[in-house]
Amino acid sequence: MNHLAQQIRALCKQKNAIILAHYYQRPEIQDVADFVGDSLALAQYAATTQADIIIMCGVHFMAETAKILCPDKKVLIPEPDAGCSLADSCNAKDLKKWKEEHPEHMIVSYVNTSAEVKALTDVVVTSSNALQIVNKLPKEQPILFGPDQNLGAYINATTGREMELWNGGCHVHARFSVEALIQLKQQYPNAKVLAHPECKATILQLADVVGSTQALLNYAKEHPEQKQFIVATESGILHEMQKACPETTFVPVPPEMTEDIEKNKQPMANQCGCNKCEYMRMNTLEKLYVCIKDERPEVMVKKQIADAAEKSIKKMLEWSK
Ligand code: 13P
Ligand code: SF4
Repeated sequence: MNHLAQQIRALCKQKNAIILAHYYQRPEIQDVADFVGDSLALAQYAATTQADIIIMCGVHFMAETAKILCPDKKVLIPEPDAGCSLADSCNAKDLKKWKEEHPEHMIVSYVNTSAEVKALTDVVVTSSNALQIVNKLPKEQPILFGPDQNLGAYINATTGREMELWNGGCHVHARFSVEALIQLKQQYPNAKVLAHPECKATILQLADVVGSTQALLNYAKEHPEQKQFIVATESGILHEMQKACPETTFVPVPPEMTEDIEKNKQPMANQCGCNKCEYMRMNTLEKLYVCIKDERPEVMVKKQIADAAEKSIKKMLEWSK
């Protein structure tokens, strides 16, 4: 552990603080965290922690979710501008209008949404529990699902439901290259393809396993006989996969080559061709250190919004037991 990481750990001990990190965080942040998990596991962990301070190394909606579940705790995020293109694709005003046009429908929202959207939502889901929760709803119950259209289409195809879908998406998962995946399958004919349901259908059709980051990691751990995997989700997960299965080869699917990527304007301008979420990468070890030391930036949610959003998040936690 380097000097900065040691100082971070010492401050956490002194302040009874915990660091929660999503699998898409930089490797050095995952390594210094108390807990690394997917969106569901981070919310579950936050809901039960005894710590006084939670530092959420993830994107803003994850810190908001932790604050809603723990209103009396201090919730910090190293980089407050770490947003999410998927959460941004759905605002509360437009969602309200959609609901007014469909008064009989229930709103099921992906956790990648603002607190305001969660406040209008009947039940929140993550990629870990979306199928389980949608299957709990009566078959005759019409549903508005948002904002991830790819995840919604995957749930519809798997459950036979006909949910109305919001036209939103994650720019990272939307840009995986189908051509590159086909080439990788030819190059690694024995590899299994692991894909996140936020990927477009043309990627999911080529996958052997579709699941949340946690489910994909679990699959690799539970199949030690499988020595090669091609992975179609944000490449931060490869750090934990490689740690858990050091004998296994994990090959990331690269993004399509857009003009911006070619001009090195995007942070994917790295040698491995990995597909990285620039928002997730905004948190750095240096910012994390300053965040714990100064106990800011703090994430706050207005009480009225938080109280309404808490109901839809708690319903998810209850239904995923
Ligand atoms: P999960 O953490 O549910 O796998 O979702 C991935 C994601 O895009 C988080 O922003
Ligand atoms: Fe949002 Fe996509 Fe980044 Fe996840 S990977 S935080 S869904 S932009």
